[in-house]
Amino acid sequence: ILNLLKSRFADALQGITDEAAAFAEMVKPVQDPRFGDYQANFAMPLGKKIGANPKETAQRVVDKLVITDVCHPPEVAGPGFINLKVLNAWLEAQVNAAADDDRLGVPLIAQPKTVVVDFSSPNVAKPMHVGHLRSTVIGDAIARVQRFLGNKVIADNHIGDWGTQFGMIIYGYKHFVDEQAYARDAVGELARLYRLVNRLCDYHDAQAELAPAQQEIATAKTELEQLEKSADSADKAAQKTLKKIRTDLATKQAALKSLQQKIEAIDTDAPLKALADAHPGISRQAREETAQLHRGNAENRRLWNEFLPACLQALQRVYDRLQIHFDLALGESYYDPMLPEVVSDLEQKQLAKISDGAMCVFIPGNSAPFIVRKADGAFTYATTDLATIRYRVDQLHADEILYVVDARQSEHFKLLMATARSWGFDKVGLKHVSFGTVMGQDGRPYKTRSGDTVGLESLLDDAVAKAREIVAANDDGKHDAEGNPKPELSQEQRTEIAEMVGIGGVKYADLMHNRESDYIFDADKMLAMTGNTATYLQYAYARIQGIFRRGGVDPTLLRAQQSKIVLRESTERALALQVCRYAETLDALIQDSRPNLLTAYLYDLAGCLTAFYDQCPVLKAESEEIRASRLRLCDLVGRIMQHGLSLLGISAPQQM
Ligand code: ARG
Repeated sequence: ILNLLKSRFADALQGITDEAAAFAEMVKPVQDPRFGDYQANFAMPLGKKIGANPKETAQRVVDKLVITDVCHPPEVAGPGFINLKVLNAWLEAQVNAAADDDRLGVPLIAQPKTVVVDFSSPNVAKPMHVGHLRSTVIGDAIARVQRFLGNKVIADNHIGDWGTQFGMIIYGYKHFVDEQAYARDAVGELARLYRLVNRLCDYHDAQAELAPAQQEIATAKTELEQLEKSADSADKAAQKTLKKIRTDLATKQAALKSLQQKIEAIDTDAPLKALADAHPGISRQAREETAQLHRGNAENRRLWNEFLPACLQALQRVYDRLQIHFDLALGESYYDPMLPEVVSDLEQKQLAKISDGAMCVFIPGNSAPFIVRKADGAFTYATTDLATIRYRVDQLHADEILYVVDARQSEHFKLLMATARSWGFDKVGLKHVSFGTVMGQDGRPYKTRSGDTVGLESLLDDAVAKAREIVAANDDGKHDAEGNPKPELSQEQRTEIAEMVGIGGVKYADLMHNRESDYIFDADKMLAMTGNTATYLQYAYARIQGIFRRGGVDPTLLRAQQSKIVLRESTERALALQVCRYAETLDALIQDSRPNLLTAYLYDLAGCLTAFYDQCPVLKAESEEIRASRLRLCDLVGRIMQHGLSLLGISAPQQM
């Protein structure tokens, strides 16, 4: 509907402004249904632009607008709002067409593009934690919607299989491995080694940083004292500087405190302390192991080849459970052989030059350089990403690359994109689909009590266990939550439903938030039967299936009969209108890669459905024709609910 309205408005705006399309974009669904279904709010800015009264401008547009086949004659209200109410007959035609359509009324994109979605992309050999969930779940949803709309999607898992963590693991394996544990559970042992070496490195690094940090704080304090004495309290600029120095000082003190805590944690743990003392050069040596791996040292390559398959298998277990599929999983290691050439090409084209021994790309307007080769000769994350762009454009023919990566990497992506453009990749669309952090109840990044990040697998297990309790509590074997009779669930069914509800709940809780915001992980809230949760939507879907079951209605037959949906009641109409907004929702979603637009849509759809149930009897409708119409509408809503959830990677059980 929205697209149609926009194009009609664009036509009407021709001749009034040369930015017809831009103003037509300002047509929106109304917030308050008393004003109709849609509203055009461009009269103020348009009037200002062309130097005319807004209300008269709105009337001028309305006079030229050809719309009476779709809407009631538009009204100009207040200072120039144009209110639109869709004709019932038109809405009926749309909703019936959607019901007869396997694509639920969603058209394919006219000019499909090749879109690479770079998501999940964990650094292997560290256990996957809740932070990896966001990229995985958001990226998967975006890939699914893109694919459904007709783009050629390449879901690419850019696995971190070549980074410094391997140096740590190799060092750990050479010095600390527990052979038996390794034989029993290689990945578990590698994860332990990673954590151990990481802590020991942190310890020594912290100790090395301690004195300089203390020194900096002392200097800042002296500076502060002097300024405090000399600064005039009326001098605004001086007060501002003072304030800045104070906050800087506080940040430095907090950093020092965290260094001291790291050190203390080991100092108070005698066995760990003994290990730390026995390996004073561990940070440098672990880095050296990585460098040796990259230089082709035979032993380190052998170990890498031994570790990697086990790590990938562990990842695959999580993906299987989450039902996430990739078309490609070229890790960072894949691009390694291309890196020297990337750097020499940048150098030849005079885009990169040596600075302090490192090969750097300088981006105008950016103080930090983009380092493509470090002073010690090592290539970087940046170099790999440049090689990857070239590969994706030249080999995969990407028109667009979406990076679904933590917001904390936005600086990297800004520099990467600027460098890629000046390197000649200026036609491919590059977008950082950034997201915030998953927080614990305490409002800090989600950690276990021991301070470890929360493992993804145990988190999923917990959610499924909780879902099982909910399913069991709901299932008295005879009635659904509204007291309607229903068949008892078998143990197998309960297990299957619990998996769908548990995993679906976790995914949905992640997807429903504006991706840029941080959100608090709350296992109870995310599985609640009411509110904006997957459980609520899954339940709405199961409820529709329950109606069919009780009425002995076969939805496939219903579809084959093509009985017409007729809109009589207000809630019926509102539900149909929401149904017709599915396409525009998916359109808006891919515009800006925002899965929360779809969760919000489905939540509203479920709300409209509940209002409809309250007003309109379905199985007990007053006539056979109305019954058939309402069943058909319910079926369509159910199909959209199931389909929309599936685009989010969430399954919907037939009963709960
Ligand atoms: N492996 C990286 C990390 O865990 C994310 C990679 C994202 N993709 C990319 N092309 N840089 O931080």
